[in-house]
Amino acid sequence: HWTSEEKAAINSVWQKVDVEKEGPETLSRVLITYPWTQRYFATFGNMSSPAAIINNPKVSAHGKKVLCALGEAVSHLDNIKGIYAKLSELHAKTLYVDPYNFKLFGQVLVIVLARRLGSAFTVEVQAAWEKFVAVVGAALSKGYQ
Ligand code: HEM
Repeated sequence: HWTSEEKAAINSVWQKVDVEKEGPETLSRVLITYPWTQRYFATFGNMSSPAAIINNPKVSAHGKKVLCALGEAVSHLDNIKGIYAKLSELHAKTLYVDPYNFKLFGQVLVIVLARRLGSAFTVEVQAAWEKFVAVVGAALSKGYQ
């Protein structure tokens, strides 16, 4: 269900993503902008201020981990549900993450990518990435059924 233009847009952006930078930035922005998401990361220590979140090494490490998992989806665009089956069950049945938060994470990721790419983040690229994060969110929500 991807056009070749969408696949090209998703892959070209991903090649410019530095998971070491954009991973921590995306997760930090989620935790700061939507503070209730901090509740899921009770073991991560100090999240008492935006600076504390940005400098929290567990937040950084986890942000990288999440973006690496997204990279797997980029590599398997035609089987995102399949590769996320276990991860979806984990978020649903062990972590009890409200799947609405996947939408928020996707929105914030699009903003981070737009800033990173500047004028290369064309409307076509945005449309392809909005679709990608929606498909990822839907795949991660499967294990809730
Ligand atoms: C753990 C991916 C969104 C909460 C994980 C792990 C991965 C992952 C790969 C590690 C799993 C393991 O250890 O086997 C993703 C992806 C997301 C996403 C690809 C969306 C694009 C979210 C959101 C939340 C969340 C929005 C909550 C607001 C958690 C928590 C853990 C976790 C609490 C366990 C952290 C720990 O204690 O180490 N996620 N995640 N995830 N995720 Fe997600």
